[in-house]
Amino acid sequence: MDDEKKSTVLVIDDDALVRNYISSVLKKFHIAVETAENGEEGYNIFKASPESHKIVIVDLMMSVMGGLEFIEKVRKNYMPPYPYIIVLTSKGEEDIVAECLDLGANDFLTKPITPKLLVTYVRKAFKTISMIDPNLLLEIPTKLMESKDLYTVLHSENVRLYSSVLSKLLLQETDYVDIDEAYRNSLYDFTYEIEVGALLHDTGKIAIPDLIWMKPGRYSPEERKIMETHTTKGALAMTNLINRYPTSTIIKTCYEIVRWHHERWDGKGYPDGLKGKEIPISARIVAIADVFDALTTRRIYRNEYSPEQALEIMINEEDGHFDPEIFKIFLQHDKLFTALAKSRMTAQILEIQKLSKL
Ligand SMILES: [Fe+2]
Ligand SMILES: [Fe+2]
Repeated sequence: MDDEKKSTVLVIDDDALVRNYISSVLKKFHIAVETAENGEEGYNIFKASPESHKIVIVDLMMSVMGGLEFIEKVRKNYMPPYPYIIVLTSKGEEDIVAECLDLGANDFLTKPITPKLLVTYVRKAFKTISMIDPNLLLEIPTKLMESKDLYTVLHSENVRLYSSVLSKLLLQETDYVDIDEAYRNSLYDFTYEIEVGALLHDTGKIAIPDLIWMKPGRYSPEERKIMETHTTKGALAMTNLINRYPTSTIIKTCYEIVRWHHERWDGKGYPDGLKGKEIPISARIVAIADVFDALTTRRIYRNEYSPEQALEIMINEEDGHFDPEIFKIFLQHDKLFTALAKSRMTAQILEIQKLSKL
């Protein structure tokens, strides 16, 4: 397998005997291995080159950064499928194993580990990471949109970025009571679901007639009403999925974002006029990211505002639009969002130039 030849398995264990044993077994099967004596050293090796350490085998008990802390740190900063984490455990550690899996470990191996079992698990890991992530299929609606309206595609990517950062800040820095307890221990799930939803938030625009969607100017009141249906049209396209997978949180989150990202905290938004916490938290996060990006992006009928101006407008003119607590967190990190917007603006100019040369 290609990944098996290119990637190195990172083994993190403070016991030299275990490190040497795993290394010698895997090397016999021509699998490259690198070792670290504790979680901190392992994290630094991984961080320096995540792409070449797609599989990590990590022990639980280590004096400097144990396995739990290592998994938590990696999953906060790196999106699956990499690295694939296998935890080394001993008999009787079932509770900790559950915690590891909950934090985002992929598998566990209970000592003593036979060579056959070790190689089987590592092979399984290589197989899993080489499989195509079904989420890549999200590129299809994005590409369809790109052929019609590059602005909406770039906008969706920006909204994904801002929403992702905002949701992480919300979980890490506050005791925001409205976040489902289930997400509290899984930062990855919360932000990932919001990211996917944010990327899809305006997909309903595909169902809007081109003459209106791509009108090079401001909309008339009638046209605006039609444009507003991108929320309900997008949500309608998801009804089938909701019915088939009623317990899937990612589908639920995407639906909430697609349908309600234009709702306002004061109840004056659309399509349903939801008010306050009637609006799901996912949609309240994306609403802030959506307005921030719309203001900092150039439109045919107006120039873009600088991120600093956009923040001013959001503070002065958007009274009652946003969840005040989430908006407060957003403003507390104004420098971060300003920097992100500036880097996205540069990236977008390059992207547009590249496409116009095609
Ligand atoms: Fe929208
Ligand atoms: Fe939008």
